[in-house]
Amino acid sequence: LAIASLSASAQEYPSKIITMAMPYAPGGPGDTITRLFASAMQKTLGQQIVVENVAGAGGSIGTAKVARSAPDGYNLLMIHISHATNSLMIKNLSYDPVKDFEPIGLATVGPMVLVARKDFPPVGTQEFVDYIRKNGEKISMGNAGAGSASHLCSLLFMETLGIKPTLIPYKGTGPALNDLMGGQIDLLCDQTTGTMPAIKANRVKAYAVAGSKRLESLPDLPSLNEAGVKGFDISIWFGLYAPKGTPKPIIDKLSDALAKAVLDPVVKERLEGIGSAPVAPALATPAKLREHLQNEINMFTPLIKSAGLYVN
Ligand code: MLT
Repeated sequence: LAIASLSASAQEYPSKIITMAMPYAPGGPGDTITRLFASAMQKTLGQQIVVENVAGAGGSIGTAKVARSAPDGYNLLMIHISHATNSLMIKNLSYDPVKDFEPIGLATVGPMVLVARKDFPPVGTQEFVDYIRKNGEKISMGNAGAGSASHLCSLLFMETLGIKPTLIPYKGTGPALNDLMGGQIDLLCDQTTGTMPAIKANRVKAYAVAGSKRLESLPDLPSLNEAGVKGFDISIWFGLYAPKGTPKPIIDKLSDALAKAVLDPVVKERLEGIGSAPVAPALATPAKLREHLQNEINMFTPLIKSAGLYVN
């Protein structure tokens, strides 16, 4: 009887509102991306998808909540690189990022930029790099908590330039950007999906792409590479998950809706407008996300161990 009811519920799925958890605060890049995909996917699924920001502890609080939620297809998680790095940097997590989740598929990949408060002294990228090398101990950098993309970028920045700024954690880079615009902190490494509006509105000073090449969306912004900072290349992927045990027919319906969302012209245009891009439909699958997460865990484990931040 259980099997029959299970397959019946899979056939009816979705028959009620779906919750998509975003483990960072409203107003940040994760929030923007999650809302965009929720509105695109609900068109295919024919049910409302409500985005719930469950922030804190580098994204691990929201992730833990989804891990222990009902595996019925109505509790989803949109998360990024921190699904790999939280488990390497935060003690006693109540979940395993691989064992406790069903991957649905990859959604986007996007770049990061270094932005400062409006009155930060250096002029231009080279002067910025020279200034940071000299004054790194005196500056404050915001991030979204241990293992977040902004935290990882800050660590890479510190390692590459040999500096030790004060790192200030927030519940997301939405709140961090507000403090940056208010002049309370000096610097933020964040995804363009969070910073593009503030850059275009001239409310922060963009100094460099946190990568090896320029962005089509910000053609006048040099890369760190151009200022002699080699080997610095970070881009942030987002993927969609459900709790372990969510039935395969439901996962397949969600993966199909995600594969349609990455082809949605609204999604493509909106993401390109903020310097990001949807993945190809072939990557919006459980197998590709499973493989990608494992690769990221394999890549970051030695990096985080060598930085002395590994906790497991
Ligand atoms: C991060 O990892 O920095 C987060 O994506 C920030 C956010 O989305 O608020």
